Amino acid sequence: MSSPVKSAAMKSKTTKSKKKAASAGAAQKSVLRDVSQHLMNTYKRSDMIFTHGRGCYVFDQNGKKYLDFLGGIAVNALGYSYPELVKTIRREAGRAVHVSNLFHNPFQGPLAAKLAKWSHMDRVFFTNSGSEAVEGAMKLARIAAKQKAGGGTKTRFLALEHSFHGRTFGALSLTHPVKYREPFEPLVPGVDFIRLNDVADLEAKFTADICAIFIEPIQGEGGIYPVSDTFWKRARELATMHGAALVADEIQCGLGRTGREFAYQRLSGLPDIVVVAKPLAGGLPLGAFLAREEFAASFSPGLHGSTFGGGPLTCATGLTFLDTVEKKHLLANVRARGAELKAGLVKLAAKFDFIQEVRGEGLMLGLDLTVDGAPYVAEALKQGLLINCTHEHILRLLPPFILTAQQVKEGLSKIESVLAKTERPAKSPAAPSATAAALTLAAAR
Ligand SMILES: Cc1ncc(COP(=O)(O)O)c(C=O)c1O
Repeated sequence: MSSPVKSAAMKSKTTKSKKKAASAGAAQKSVLRDVSQHLMNTYKRSDMIFTHGRGCYVFDQNGKKYLDFLGGIAVNALGYSYPELVKTIRREAGRAVHVSNLFHNPFQGPLAAKLAKWSHMDRVFFTNSGSEAVEGAMKLARIAAKQKAGGGTKTRFLALEHSFHGRTFGALSLTHPVKYREPFEPLVPGVDFIRLNDVADLEAKFTADICAIFIEPIQGEGGIYPVSDTFWKRARELATMHGAALVADEIQCGLGRTGREFAYQRLSGLPDIVVVAKPLAGGLPLGAFLAREEFAASFSPGLHGSTFGGGPLTCATGLTFLDTVEKKHLLANVRARGAELKAGLVKLAAKFDFIQEVRGEGLMLGLDLTVDGAPYVAEALKQGLLINCTHEHILRLLPPFILTAQQVKEGLSKIESVLAKTERPAKSPAAPSATAAALTLAAAR
């Protein structure tokens, strides 16, 4: 190409990309105007708009690429536009999205069977979200306890401090942080909270009127705190002794996230009820509660239901998700990539003294800082990395299960650069002392 032609081509390319950026900017403005005028004011969000993704990367309205270490908050376990999921969704969208629960569909039963095999539970009820699965689990636990006791006094629930079980009234009643609960009180009465891994507190509060104890085997929103085997074992014993249900909330830590099918497999003893959601249908809304027969048998037609839960599209996609995790050996990948990522983070903790602890398992990891975490999340975004911050000072990483060794390296190098470049904020008022954190961790071992 002669040089005048070359420069004309370059000029036209620059003009085209300027036009593209201007039109993206105008589209963004218009979307944000609608958001500010017509959406309820419930989320703090940055101004960017994500338009599409591929694998472990997501792209914004300007085409900027981000390595996604948040995975839609533990939802996008197969990343974006995973070919098998796309194929299933296209196929079933062209057949029947919905048929109602008055009839069978080809996928609800098989997905329940697969979940039963993964969890060692017996029966499944499908919902549309995690909170709704928690609500169902509460109802099942209560009716099972009432039936066992032959009456209505066994109605109270236990949950743990710093727990998060959802935003609907029942699930919110089991959620510990005051900021979520207080504005909506009165909530469902009869809930007590136990200090994480405090067996004496557990024993004192586990009375004969308890129908269920809800435990996240690894607390997610609470800051990536694992429950100790000693605590779980005692909860199992007390639940059996009182005819109450031990409920594992695996909505964030389950379905492969820790490198096991369920995070409770690290602990001694099975739960009675398990709740799942987030990654179950590859990003489509699908949750479930699973139960041992002894509990599930308490439901009979009419006691519980859902219009959308367990539809053919979501259940077919759920089957594809679980099949893919099995066929592509993704649990092994989660364990391997998780170990590499954690080892890299531990090295960074030795370099940056404001990291007080690295916690978690598989691809559910937390970097506990002594300072406010928000500026680090903002800097990560600038540098093309998605992470988030929970409890003001814990950076949380929840990457997709399909993460490669190369992407672990890329992520670690971005995190190192973010830690180095962010102007060090003041100590977070919410950050516990290193000693308190160490005590919690010691108890969890
Ligand atoms: C452990 C846990 N339980 C329940 C929920 C509520 O799920 P959903 O937002 O789908 O209602 C969440 C959501 O973050 C969660 O992490």
